[in-house]
Amino acid sequence: MSSLDLLYGAASPGATRDGTTAKSPRVTLVGAGPGDPGLLTRKGYDALQTADVVFFDELVSPDIIDILPTNVRCIYVGKPNQSASISQADICQQLVSAARGGLKVVRLKGGDPMIFGRTGEELDALRAAGVDVDIVPGITSATGAAASTRISLTHRDYAQQVTFVTAARREGELAEVRGLAGKGRTLVVYMGITRARALTDAFLSDGIDGALPVAIVENATRADERVIITTVAELSIAVAHNDVRSPALFIVGDVVRTYAAADQAAAAEA
Ligand SMILES: C[S@@+](CC[C@H](N)C(=O)[O-])C[C@H]1O[C@@H](n2cnc3c(N)ncnc32)[C@H](O)[C@@H]1O
Repeated sequence: MSSLDLLYGAASPGATRDGTTAKSPRVTLVGAGPGDPGLLTRKGYDALQTADVVFFDELVSPDIIDILPTNVRCIYVGKPNQSASISQADICQQLVSAARGGLKVVRLKGGDPMIFGRTGEELDALRAAGVDVDIVPGITSATGAAASTRISLTHRDYAQQVTFVTAARREGELAEVRGLAGKGRTLVVYMGITRARALTDAFLSDGIDGALPVAIVENATRADERVIITTVAELSIAVAHNDVRSPALFIVGDVVRTYAAADQAAAAEA
């Protein structure tokens, strides 16, 4: 029996916090959304309210943790800046041990768990261990940012398609972005802060106009959200100059022009 099994009481399904006994080991994966607790789904909120233990990572905003009942055990399993402080295998083992111990287990992930959330790896590990999984989707940061900045990602005057891309490949190098940005397209780049210079180079060598606008949205939907409007050519300078921190994403494309329009309208009204 491992130390984790001892911690969670493996192989002896016990009473859950609401007095029921879990039937078979089960984990509920919940999307926390981009930060504003009001953006949690009702199903996600209910799962959190009845959980015995919640495993969360660094993208889950403190405001969401604040709404958990005080008797829910919260375990941080974050990997800030993709560091290896806790391995994916360790996280999976903790989930499995807690579920086998009969607890109601929630795995809480930022945004939508199915978008750049490594959910595939956790699903495989949980299934292999005989643990059932429920998935509650969340609002991904791209759509959260679109709402809070009022930049419609598919404004009909500017874009007929939208793509979500991660700047980071598994091995750390820049992901392929050729053909994803430009006329009639909106590209939302996740995990791009440390690759801003490489992104600019990739866009320019793909023939993208350096003047194409980019919105950098930091802490989208949170009280401390920041929006910086720049261009493809100036992207890395804007990131460095404004000391942009994670979490942040880039909206690349002509739709960003509507941010300025919304701003001007608000200023005119004031
Ligand atoms: C590992 S991915 C997880 C994405 C998440 N599953 C989602 O659906 O939003 C992490 C990246 O998501 C983006 N992100 C997550 N939350 C954000 C927020 N509140 N504001 C801006 N970007 C955010 C950032 O690009 C960050 O580097």
